[in-house]
Amino acid sequence: MLATRVLRRFREQFQQEPVLVRAPGRVNLIGEHTDYNEGLVLPAAIDREFVFAVAANSGPVTHALASDKQEACSFGLDDLVPGRGWQHYLMGMQHGFHQIGIPFQGLNVVFGSEIPEGAGLSSSAALCCGFGFAMSEALQLNLARLGIAKIAQYAEHTFAGVKCGIMDPYASLFGKSGHAMLLDCRSITHEYVPWMSDDLQLVLVDSRVKHALASTAYNERRLACETAVRTLHTFYAGIKSLRDVTEVMLLERQDTLGEEVFVKARFVVQENRRLQQAVACIRQGDFEGFGRLLNQTHWALSKEYEVSCEELDFLVTIAEEEKGVLGSRMMGGGFGGCTLNLIRRHRVDFFRGLVFEKYVAQFEKEPDFYLVNLADGVSRLTASPIQI
Ligand code: GLA
Repeated sequence: MLATRVLRRFREQFQQEPVLVRAPGRVNLIGEHTDYNEGLVLPAAIDREFVFAVAANSGPVTHALASDKQEACSFGLDDLVPGRGWQHYLMGMQHGFHQIGIPFQGLNVVFGSEIPEGAGLSSSAALCCGFGFAMSEALQLNLARLGIAKIAQYAEHTFAGVKCGIMDPYASLFGKSGHAMLLDCRSITHEYVPWMSDDLQLVLVDSRVKHALASTAYNERRLACETAVRTLHTFYAGIKSLRDVTEVMLLERQDTLGEEVFVKARFVVQENRRLQQAVACIRQGDFEGFGRLLNQTHWALSKEYEVSCEELDFLVTIAEEEKGVLGSRMMGGGFGGCTLNLIRRHRVDFFRGLVFEKYVAQFEKEPDFYLVNLADGVSRLTASPIQI
């Protein structure tokens, strides 16, 4: 078990008793690229997680060990530098804590993970939130979850260079077993939506595509949305984000916006609408209706927002031809990672076999499959009952 391994490694390495914390990855059911536009999203934490063991040491240097990778790193306040490695996310979190007035404190850290990296399951958000929560517990800071989510977003922006929204850290911190969360990224509040679909399974198909340019393209999409808001604001003073924009306004100002910006902004406005329809479907138990909206979102992400890729489109096309699949779409920032598929349980094995065969034949690369369930957000584990 992951927690047992991490705890054992921590005790061997540091001869101390740590705080033990689990931090899940997330899926997003619908509402893509809306979070940084003050829109709505529908994520959920999943049963794949990081486990952190953290304790304060008496010095000014943090010693961290990524137990699965067999990699270690030590850093003090003057060593915090940007980058995309796991150590930079930890540095970003400690920097964020320091920025809000918490003196830098050396920590001993061991962590392990069962969340695949680069698959769009927000392993980086789980990494940041797990470490942030464990740090808060180990130092008895009692930071609010929302505060930790914002520091995680800060770490992504400032240390990893991705201008992401609040969705991923929020989902990792606020998840609830058997529920999705309807998160309003303007008020940054949520309500839980029960996910009652006993005969359905969420299956992620990992294309195993990782595009190097994904973060650049992500930041470019965000810029297009900001351009739309700036332009529309000159016509309608009340507009602060795409959340305030209607399709009529966009159509009225289409020429001024230019085709590229118009299409991107229209996607966001329509995606917020699709999400509201999707939540109504889930609440009524209309999973066929919900599935159709997933596919609409996919093709809009692909053809309009232009964040898909050949492999993801291929996976969705296969899924669309399979009658046990209610819906399928790319998930997350895009340009690779997973598709999210809503499948009748008795068809899951058949679907896996079919997709595997077709994907390998087309791309000479094997996809991965993750069957996921909706789980609780970040929480503390008790170290004592674990037998090691
Ligand atoms: C990434 C970002 C999120 C969100 C999604 C797209 O996962 O981290 O903030 O913008 O892409 O919905």
